[in-house]
Amino acid sequence: MTGIGVIGCGYWGPNLIRNFNSQADADLIAISDLDENRLNTVGLLYPNTRKTTDYRDLINDPAIDAVVVATPMSTHFDLGMEVLAAGKHLFVEKPMATNSEDCRTLIKTAAAKDLKLMVGHTFVYSPPVRMIKQLLDDGELGDIYYVNISRVNLGIFQKDANVIWDLAPHDVAMLNFLFGAEPIAVSGTGHCYVQKERGIEDVAFVTLEYPGGKLVHIHVSWLDPNKIRTCTFVGSKKMLVYDDVSPSEKIRLYDKGVDVQPHYEGFGEFQLLYRSGDIFLPHVDTYEPLKSQAAHFLEFIQGKVVCQSDGTHGLKVVEVLEAACQSVKEDGRRITLEPIA
Ligand SMILES: NC(=O)c1ccc[n+]([C@@H]2O[C@H](COP(=O)([O-])OP(=O)(O)OC[C@H]3O[C@@H](n4cnc5c(N)ncnc54)[C@H](O)[C@@H]3O)[C@@H](O)[C@H]2O)c1
Repeated sequence: MTGIGVIGCGYWGPNLIRNFNSQADADLIAISDLDENRLNTVGLLYPNTRKTTDYRDLINDPAIDAVVVATPMSTHFDLGMEVLAAGKHLFVEKPMATNSEDCRTLIKTAAAKDLKLMVGHTFVYSPPVRMIKQLLDDGELGDIYYVNISRVNLGIFQKDANVIWDLAPHDVAMLNFLFGAEPIAVSGTGHCYVQKERGIEDVAFVTLEYPGGKLVHIHVSWLDPNKIRTCTFVGSKKMLVYDDVSPSEKIRLYDKGVDVQPHYEGFGEFQLLYRSGDIFLPHVDTYEPLKSQAAHFLEFIQGKVVCQSDGTHGLKVVEVLEAACQSVKEDGRRITLEPIA
């Protein structure tokens, strides 16, 4: 049994609490929130779990082996360091911290204390993303040329982070996982329309260049009439559309493409052969990603698996976000990234 404590019972924390509580090999010992009303409302569902407005009570509880941090990102580093200093394993929500330096310190501290550190990059554990990974690894789409992503809706406007820090971690974590690689260059443009005074961008267009010429475009926005979560993967053999808000057709695999054939009548000319075959709707499992993520964290602590969103994975995501924001500040300058050893 792994004793679990959760800090943060706001919008997202209750989802993590519910999923850790449902694990057979975890014991939800305590939950914490600064807001007593929020704590009590969430706590009603967990009568056997201790509630505290002081997270230090939770961190210093000897019955707790691992702490889940689901507070705003500006608090992740300080809380994470306190959790590790108390000798507990750490699960921290995305993004891991507000800068790569802090991520490195968290990674080093966890390693020095032989503690496990995992980041809540939920999409890595979602059934459609796992299926896309399998299709890419099997070569079903051929070589990936480019990916176009829209992650837009109206709100929720964050006050301590721009739309890139809020929404793009999902896409960068997913793509790094799918490609088994990190971008080699990043550029972005963005604008503050609603929170102009605060200088917080609510709309951004980010371009990532992955090794092998894979180009990715990500549109993130809190200022859009529709909730759209689509990713289009264009490969040399097939194309795939992943629509995360579709209830029943999350993945569509298109047997479409263009082949280039040499045209012998005129030297140096070629012919384009268009392929427009079947559209396949594969069955996608419907288990909850957060359940799988919680189980993965427990197995990681027990030494049974290699973590798929560990501290280094979290750091690589933060590096891309930093570079994207830097590029936005510099009118879209292309910023190259050094590989992390
Ligand atoms: N993985 C995902 O898909 C996903 C989705 C949404 C949010 N998140 C992440 O979850 C985290 C929390 O986001 P949210 O939307 O729930 O924020 P929120 O503001 O709704 O909730 C945060 C809660 O933390 C509490 N809190 C802050 N400091 C605390 C402290 N020191 N001790 C105890 N409680 C404290 C606040 O009182 C608040 O109730 C963020 O990092 C966010 O990026 C992840």
